[in-house]
This record gives sequence, C-alpha cells and structure tokens, in this order.
Amino acid sequence: MIRTALRRVVGRSPAQTARWVRFHLYELYRERRLGVRTAAFAPGGDAISDENERYEPTCYRCVEEALDDLEIDPGRDVFVDYGCGKGRAVAVAATRPFRKAIGVELSEPLAADARENLRRSAGTHRCGGWEIVVADAAAYAVPADVTVIFLFNSFHGSVLRAALEQVRRSWESRPRPLAILYKIPAGQADLLAEIDWLTRRRETALPNCRWEGMRLLIYEPADLGEPDRSAEAGVPDEDRG
Ligand SMILES: C[S@@+](CC[C@H](N)C(=O)[O-])C[C@H]1O[C@@H](n2cnc3c(N)ncnc32)[C@H](O)[C@@H]1O
Repeated sequence: MIRTALRRVVGRSPAQTARWVRFHLYELYRERRLGVRTAAFAPGGDAISDENERYEPTCYRCVEEALDDLEIDPGRDVFVDYGCGKGRAVAVAATRPFRKAIGVELSEPLAADARENLRRSAGTHRCGGWEIVVADAAAYAVPADVTVIFLFNSFHGSVLRAALEQVRRSWESRPRPLAILYKIPAGQADLLAEIDWLTRRRETALPNCRWEGMRLLIYEPADLGEPDRSAEAGVPDEDRG
C-alpha cells in the first residue's frame, strides 16, 4: 500500500500530490461514515465486453454534487443507478430523502456486495426504502415511478441505446418529471445528444473528480407534457400545497 502511494506521488507537483491526498482522504472518510466497502475495482466476469464496463466506483464527491442540485420530493422521487456495482451511488442516494433508491446490476456477485453495503449503511438512510435488482439494463423495465437516473460509464453503444429505450417506454407510459444525471468522462461521445426525446438542460464540470475533465450532463424529456397527477386525484385544488 505504501509502495502504491509512493508511485502515485513521485513525479507529481506538490499541488497535484495535495489534491490526490485530499481526494483519497475524503473517499476513506465517506467509506467509514457509511460503513461500506465499495472502493476496490472488480475485474468483471464473462458479461463484461466492449459495451459493458467492469466495476469502478464513482467518486463520492461526484455523486454527492449531482444529488445536491436536486430538489428531492420525498413523496415522489425514486432514484436508480444503472450498473450499481457494489452500491456506492445507491448508498449515497439512500442518505437523501428519496422515496426509494434502486440499483440495477448485471453481475450477481456485485449485486450481493451492494446489498451487503446497503445493509451496513442502514443507520445513515433517510430514504423510504432500497432495492438491488440483478438485470441487464438493456432489458430492465424501468418502473413507472422512477424520476432520477444516475449513469456513470456502465455501458455504451447498443446497450446504452436499449436502456434509454426502456426509459422512454417507462416515461411514455406515465409522463412525469425525470432527470438523467449523466457523468461522462472527457473525450467520450455524448450518446444522449442523439436521442430525440431527450434534451440537455444543463452541463457542469466535476472538478473534484478523480479523473480530469469529467462532466455532469443533465438530460430531461424534451416534452415534459402534462405531469401525471393521478397520485393527487381527489384532492381539491385549494387543498394542494
Ligand atoms: C463503471 S461501473 C459504475 C458503478 C456505479 N454506477 C458507480 O457509479 O459507482 C460499471 C458497472 O456497471 C455494471 N454493468 C455493466 N454492464 C451492465 C449492464 N448491461 N446492465 C447492468 N449493469 C451493467 C458493471 O458490472 C459495473 O458494476
């Protein structure tokens, strides 16, 4: 471990070294506070291919900054991390007042780790509930109450297109506010820009990310249409907040 740390700092400027140390201290702190073990990369099994990435966790700060920008409605909002791996982003989302936090993961062993991590972090939860689903995102039927989707480098190409088609079907079955938080590495093509039913609402830099040039793109349905108010049915207008 000491040798790895030395390799990382040799040849770096003092400012780069300080940034590297700060980054890792914060990552360690968050792992301890949540009581989880999500840091180690995983090689991935047979399912990993050119289009399906292996496990590599998001940085804590990136997912926290992405969620800080949301006004979460505890009675409505449901979070999904596509390709949740060991459950880091789901564990962070579970500390916010989401109605539910869901992780979708292709690998059964990683999903088992994610469940264990969600159980370990239970004392920090403010969400209404959580679930880890073993599924290929390309075939996962997105529940009609999902309103926030986190996407970080889990799959590409035809798999990403198929997953977004599942999201479109879900949204069309019940038009509702929906935000796709797309954390995209520098130099990677933005495939969501090709999807005609989505529009980019915002782009922000993620300066605290482990990797330089990482961006957060926020997409929403281009035509939000009339929000589904079925949950409020029967409530007279004057009684609504
Ligand atoms: C780069 S990691 C992202 C981990 C997590 N989302 C995070 O931000 O910490 C990619 C994860 O996606 C999973 N994955 C890859 N292809 C997938 C697919 N088609 N459906 C569901 N999960 C997939 C991998 O097993 C891996 O755990």
